[in-house]
Amino acid sequence: MGISIASFLLPLALVLNLVSVCNGGTTSAFVRNVQKGVNMSLDSDVFAVPSGYNAPQQVHITQGDLVGKEVIVSWVTEDEPGSIAVRYWSTDNSKQKKLAKGKIVTYRFFNYSSGFIHHTTIRNLEYNTKYYYEVGLGNTTRQFWFITPPEIGPDVPYTFGLIGDLGQSFDSNRTLSHYELNPRKGQTVLFVGDLSYSDNFPNHDNVRWDTWGRFVERSTAYQPWIWTVGNHEIDFAPEIGETKPFKPYSHRYHTPYKASQSTSPFWYSIRRASAHIIVLASYSGYGKYTPQYQWLEQELPKVNRTETPWLIVLMHSPWYNSNNQHYMEGETMRVMYEPWFVKYKVDVVYAGHVHAYERTERVSNIAYNVVNGICTPIKDQSAPVYITIGDGGNLGGMETNMTEPQPEYSAFREASFGHAIFDIKNRTHAHYSWHRNQDGYSVEADSHWFFNRFWHPVDDSTAHVFH
Ligand SMILES: [Fe+2]
Repeated sequence: MGISIASFLLPLALVLNLVSVCNGGTTSAFVRNVQKGVNMSLDSDVFAVPSGYNAPQQVHITQGDLVGKEVIVSWVTEDEPGSIAVRYWSTDNSKQKKLAKGKIVTYRFFNYSSGFIHHTTIRNLEYNTKYYYEVGLGNTTRQFWFITPPEIGPDVPYTFGLIGDLGQSFDSNRTLSHYELNPRKGQTVLFVGDLSYSDNFPNHDNVRWDTWGRFVERSTAYQPWIWTVGNHEIDFAPEIGETKPFKPYSHRYHTPYKASQSTSPFWYSIRRASAHIIVLASYSGYGKYTPQYQWLEQELPKVNRTETPWLIVLMHSPWYNSNNQHYMEGETMRVMYEPWFVKYKVDVVYAGHVHAYERTERVSNIAYNVVNGICTPIKDQSAPVYITIGDGGNLGGMETNMTEPQPEYSAFREASFGHAIFDIKNRTHAHYSWHRNQDGYSVEADSHWFFNRFWHPVDDSTAHVFH
């Protein structure tokens, strides 16, 4: 009898001991291959140049206005400028083909000269309609298609994909394929920065901007990617005479910043379906009186939760991240803007930068005033959930090194590659899931039901002890 009691009590004691040291949420036991990843070589099939004279390549689209009735189509030609026009038509009216005309830009970076980079905005589109479009008119013409979003409204379902820090490694290719084959079918990608990682190559080899553009075309030509700028877009290289930050990125990837009264392509907002999305720039000035500060101060009161209940913020450097990689790099921006995020009840903040995955509870840390010592995050149902999704696949190495013990604010963390889906159902509920590359396409390695902070501000925290 004594033996049986001991055999019962010992495991119980071990469990109790585990509970007492486990302050935060879950640190997944899953460990990815921690060896540094490998970039795909220049002759990889995903980098292949499309055949034909002056064939358009690196085709990508993004939202072109505030409400989703315009699309910016961008592409590159290498042999000559070629036509600046996009021919497009809807499946409802395929006999009436229209032309939209844009502009061409080029740039030089050290010893690299870009191709002819085209940007054309298609306007006055119908909502919820499939359009075909063609570029390369007069030379090699290529055809693609996209579907416009439904009209803005509070209960419009819409499915966003989340990808960050993609790069061009074999893991990057797995992440993109995993996203494409996810049965939840993302309709638009919210990309949280760090695109090509060209700056990791000698002299920031801008050929790697071109290979990246060709690699992602299979998705970016067919659905909008909403761009956030990351540190690997800075391309600041005074040692080779390149002193204008963001030069390659800003020539290649346009955003509809003027539509939201922004003065910079790096911070702006769009409305799409039932979401209001604010994009912030971690590597532009954000202190008081800066243009970004003034813009955000004006922007937040404009968010109309009756029309767009879901308030989503994208940035590159995370505010809440318990990975030792890039730990606290987002702290200065957090100090500036977190009180606003609580005041305006942001639903979720997506960031990248850290090549791992993490989801927090709803927390805030806004009471500190230098002398009061109150500097610990507290549970706050007016605060956003912070999700770090910088696990797109760029070459990693140290990201399994997390702060211990896991902070109380951290609900789930894991050092794997993957992507996420934010699936808005109506004004009150959105289903969120994180998808690890090693799993089957429908497997949700982490998931969470979001309750909207404006329409249904009920506690939606993960069920673990948090004071
Ligand atoms: Fe980064």
